[in-house]
Amino acid sequence: MSTTTSEQMDTRILDGKALSRRIKDEIAVEVAAWVDKGHRKPHLAAVLIGEDGASRTYVDHKVKSCAQVGFESTLVERPADISQEALLDIVHGLNENPQIDGFIVQLPLPAHIDDQAITEAVSAKKDVDGFHPSNMGNLALGLPGFVPATPAGIMTMLERFGIETEGKHAVVVGRSSIVGTPMSLLLSRAGTPGNCTVTLCHSRTQDLAAHCRRADILVAAVGRPGMITADMVKDGAVVVDVGITRVEDSTAKRGFRLKGDVAYAEVAPKCSWITPVPGGVGPMTIVSLLRNTLDAAQRAAAGH
Ligand code: GUN
Repeated sequence: MSTTTSEQMDTRILDGKALSRRIKDEIAVEVAAWVDKGHRKPHLAAVLIGEDGASRTYVDHKVKSCAQVGFESTLVERPADISQEALLDIVHGLNENPQIDGFIVQLPLPAHIDDQAITEAVSAKKDVDGFHPSNMGNLALGLPGFVPATPAGIMTMLERFGIETEGKHAVVVGRSSIVGTPMSLLLSRAGTPGNCTVTLCHSRTQDLAAHCRRADILVAAVGRPGMITADMVKDGAVVVDVGITRVEDSTAKRGFRLKGDVAYAEVAPKCSWITPVPGGVGPMTIVSLLRNTLDAAQRAAAGH
């Protein structure tokens, strides 16, 4: 985006949609070569419980993306009143199925299901979401393992757009176990991208705005539309918006619009780089899930 007034930055867009297309093409080439060597196609399964509209949309995107890169996919759908035991049986079946390389159980799950028990039941070798404690532990220790797809996608985005991270101050807002916490680990660990000094902010942080204003790289992962306002952002910052909240809007075709955590119109002119919502982080999450699934297939074939 070009801007006109002298105080405004020449903001550039971290276009996750375009980048994800390019990386999907790269994965498709790798898959074709893998299959040419005599391997079967990588196979991702997704478990969707209940009727949550947003979860269905995400899972549909994941399944559709499998076909785009030459993977097999299986969607396992069950009603919201499924028992914990029945869901555990599904997870055990997928763990033991040699035709499945990796699988995910879409979150959130209904309130009567113990998420943690389900996450821990997934074989770490097929845990392409990277949520199992052993994958989280490997991430914390800098050891190989599956990295959760959203933070992995953000790191890929920073790398591919050539964003300098070395020695920078990164502020992550939100400490969820699937985004904020792993994001803070990835940004702080030695490597490129990485080597940031990281501040992890959360609901008990005092003077959130002051912390955010010190960020060279600001990652917002809270799920509160528009909470990051222009006064919270330093001139020239790189802003990554993980929020994708559905906000009712009768003028929109589907009756809602997706809103990020960042008040885009007022924040974008201050940034050197910013992700749009939609079309920023979301497509990168899917690409990372595909990458993890291909890695799972290759590791299984190598006997790891
Ligand atoms: N719900 C929101 N994000 C995710 C994700 O990355 N994986 C799963 N399984 N559920 C989610």
